[in-house]
Amino acid sequence: MSIKRKTPKPDRPLYRSLRVLSLGLVLSLGFTEPGARAEPIKPVPIMVEVNEAKVALGRRLFHDPRLSKNNTVSCATCHDLSAGGDDGQVVSIGIEGRPGLVNAPTVFNSGYNFKQFWDGRAHTLEEQVDGPLQSRIEMESIWPDVVTKLFQDEDYPRLFQEAYPNDAQIISRENIKEAIAEFQRSLITPNSRFDQWLRGNVGALNEQEKEGYALFKRYGCVSCHQGANVGGNMFQVFGVINDYFRKRGNITDADLGRFNVTGNEADKHAFKVPSLRMAAHTAPYLHDGSAETLRDAVDAMFEFQLGREAPDEDKEAIVAFIKTLAGEYQFDPGQGPISAEFQESLNGNLGQRAAPTGIQDISTTGTSQERPPADRAETVSQNGSTRPLRTGRSVRTRSKVGRATGPVRSGR
Ligand code: HEC
Ligand code: HEC
Repeated sequence: MSIKRKTPKPDRPLYRSLRVLSLGLVLSLGFTEPGARAEPIKPVPIMVEVNEAKVALGRRLFHDPRLSKNNTVSCATCHDLSAGGDDGQVVSIGIEGRPGLVNAPTVFNSGYNFKQFWDGRAHTLEEQVDGPLQSRIEMESIWPDVVTKLFQDEDYPRLFQEAYPNDAQIISRENIKEAIAEFQRSLITPNSRFDQWLRGNVGALNEQEKEGYALFKRYGCVSCHQGANVGGNMFQVFGVINDYFRKRGNITDADLGRFNVTGNEADKHAFKVPSLRMAAHTAPYLHDGSAETLRDAVDAMFEFQLGREAPDEDKEAIVAFIKTLAGEYQFDPGQGPISAEFQESLNGNLGQRAAPTGIQDISTTGTSQERPPADRAETVSQNGSTRPLRTGRSVRTRSKVGRATGPVRSGR
């Protein structure tokens, strides 16, 4: 759910976002060592349930320029998986060199966003695919052309057959979208140093990074950037305290953000709070790409979201903390870096890793280490049902093959 601002209260904007926090979170502010209380940030699950045939197909489609009108642009053109899952540009450059309107977010962990796009106009990863594929400035395709091109390919008919054995029409718009979405759901980045620390490895962070996390909570960054994705679960106005857009000037339609979807005044300049998971690798930042470095983005947050000064030292510590959030990329054998160490821990913890089954709660995967309570609340579902911070609420972990592993209580 979005945090909807029914009646604008310009005098106390931060209060609105704080109000939605559970009491548990508020109480946990200030506890810096894991194990003390449920933390407002959850680890990225070690595994996610995906259909491997669809992932294999989706990976190929994601990298295939034939999805664009003139066979030059693939999803990977703007979402480079070897470089953070984005394109490193201020705004993306699409088909025939056409400039985009906003900065490309990463696709890593996008399955954990409650909505897709800066303004949240797509509800699911499936729905999202229609956007770039048909956009005049991105891929400029039409679906019948794409389906025809894929039918003519040597391998696709077989790959679709494997992924969709029961469908009468194997290569269809719906199946293409679903396979790409399934591939993206596999793009999780578990085992970051921060997650190791959350799971009880106190040596995983150095003093500056721990301090950075404490400050991230103390200054209130965590009221907006929270949950497994450290973002991606609410909309917030950019410029809640100081007016960013007046200062920057040249307001574009894209700057109106969520307002373009809802038409509500209160949603003007509201954006999906971006995930900070991969922020170490996705410069430049902000929807308009205006922040060149992570430090610039953090400065902007202090100025426009918090309206307060902070010593350099604090900001540097926060930047150091954010850099510990990026994890490892699992499900792309041969393409993504998986450390031998991580592979070993998977083997050790999960036994045979043939077909991933279910979003695993690490606390059921059998190491003897003491775990912080945060782990027991690790019920992070993909695509829209994440409610990491409500107390005492039942949520079901979503499962593509119709198996639910809930109900589990979240956010104690
Ligand atoms: C020309 C560059 C470009 C291409 C090609 C492109 N994207 Fe994107 N992608 C973007 C930009 C820019 C955004 C942000 C747009 C917005 O929010 O309005 C985006 C947003 C997304 C998001 C939402 C992420 C989030 O956090 O909200 C996903 C998922 C995504 N793209 C996947 C894809 C897939 C799948 C394809 C191929 C079918 C694709 N993209 C093709 C540039 C591109
Ligand atoms: C009131 C909600 C709110 C608070 C508080 C907040 N942020 Fe943000 N943050 C946002 C929104 C919304 C954006 C996207 C703004 C945009 O791009 O227009 C954002 C963007 C960012 C980005 C850029 C991410 C990217 O990929 O472009 C970083 C980094 C960031 N915030 C860090 C922080 C830090 C550090 C703090 C505390 C000092 C903080 N935020 C406080 C809502 C918030």
